[in-house]
Amino acid sequence: MADKSASLSMDEKSFDYPVRAGTVGPDVIDIRKLYGQTGAFTFDPGFTSTASCESAITYIDGDKGVLLHRGYPIDQLAENSTFMEVAYLLLNGELPTRAELDKFTYTITRHTMVHEQLSQFYRGFRRDAHPMAVMCGVVGALSAFYHDSTDITDPHQRTVASHRLIAKMPTIAAMAYKYSVGQPFVYPQNDLSYTGNFLRMTFGVPAEPYEINPVIERAMRRIFILHADHEQNASTSTVRLAGSSGANPFACIAAGIACLWGPAHGGANEAALNMLREIGRPERIPEYIARAKDKDDPFRLMGFGHRVYKNYDPRAKVMQATADEVLKELGISDPVLDVARELEHIALHDEYFIEKKLYPNVDFYSGVILSAIGFPTSMFTVLFALARTTGWVAQWNEMISDPDQKIGRPRQLYTGAAQREYVPVDKR
Ligand code: SDX
Repeated sequence: MADKSASLSMDEKSFDYPVRAGTVGPDVIDIRKLYGQTGAFTFDPGFTSTASCESAITYIDGDKGVLLHRGYPIDQLAENSTFMEVAYLLLNGELPTRAELDKFTYTITRHTMVHEQLSQFYRGFRRDAHPMAVMCGVVGALSAFYHDSTDITDPHQRTVASHRLIAKMPTIAAMAYKYSVGQPFVYPQNDLSYTGNFLRMTFGVPAEPYEINPVIERAMRRIFILHADHEQNASTSTVRLAGSSGANPFACIAAGIACLWGPAHGGANEAALNMLREIGRPERIPEYIARAKDKDDPFRLMGFGHRVYKNYDPRAKVMQATADEVLKELGISDPVLDVARELEHIALHDEYFIEKKLYPNVDFYSGVILSAIGFPTSMFTVLFALARTTGWVAQWNEMISDPDQKIGRPRQLYTGAAQREYVPVDKR
């Protein structure tokens, strides 16, 4: 129960609202009765001051640059966990015992194949279709194939659908890549790790064995962990809102994929690498910094800034270290990485970025790594969606199980025309 309250005075009346504290982080003012008592709505476009739900999955402290999954710091998970372990943690709330992890990994592994007819869907797309367009379509179509796990009121079906989504995303993503390059689809192989399986399905060919590079496998696993969940971001909120209507989980995840595609969100990793390549060399950085600061120029430094982090995104630090590791392992010296480093250095010493608290985010360095591994930029957001599916599924399950949850239905401040009478066209 709340032991604090917040008072609002309006039209010479005073209203009190309970204030609730979480484990850590900002308190919330419970305003659920505000409209009924005051006849007014709150107004918060972009939800910059709004908590949309109660959640125990992920905590972010934007000022300190802290990211916890079920209480565990992201850098510790990225360093020590497998993706299956993080997926189990996000879904169940605790790190698994060895037996729990083995059982979970066994289950997920044996859901990695997709219905053979699903592969026909890819043939309906042009080969040069953006892979995110393919992902929106194919994942949305999953509900046409897995009817036996679409009843959201059945906890068993929710679990099966959750496992199917986590398991099949790498297969679907790899198929989207294979289709774009005209190579045959490669089936999953159950003796490989979640990440290793994805690498083989993506870069393996039937003509020869595929050898997984352990440094690349570790880098990919880290990248998946860094992208797994991130509190109530735009795409997670989309999944929750779609789920609040009772839509089936496959449709909800397809909605999340569509939202993630935007360049202000998950599409930023593709946009950031394209920007770094356009800048090309350190001497051109000042020109782009000036454009980013120009109010009349819509250009923004992609991979910089964040709604919540007003300090360094902890994921960006791990990503930067991983970039060094991967380029060293592959013997690549990518000039884009030099541009990224110099751009970061200049921006972090520029008054505009300091005053607006703009730091590199998770998308700033990821493209350098993914490009070095061999992914085209069009696949970057697909990889983000692959990893974030685990967070979306965890958040969707939490929402469905929340006794307070109801269909999301925000209101508005109406500034359109007052009621008026219809005028026939020959009198206008
Ligand atoms: C992700 O929410 C999440 O958790 C998302 C994510 C996740 O894991 O789910 O972390 C993943 O989406 C990371 C963010 C990826 N997007 C980008 O890198 C695109 C570039 N960044 C910006 O578009 C922007 O920083 C946002 C969208 C990320 C955040 O924007 P906000 O919170 O709405 O902040 P804002 O637009 O109000 O900006 C505040 C000020 C503005 O200046 P003023 O109007 O106050 O004068 O900072 C400026 C902005 O113009 N600003 C930038 C900038 N980002 C903000 N100026 C130049 N370059 C930038 N990148």
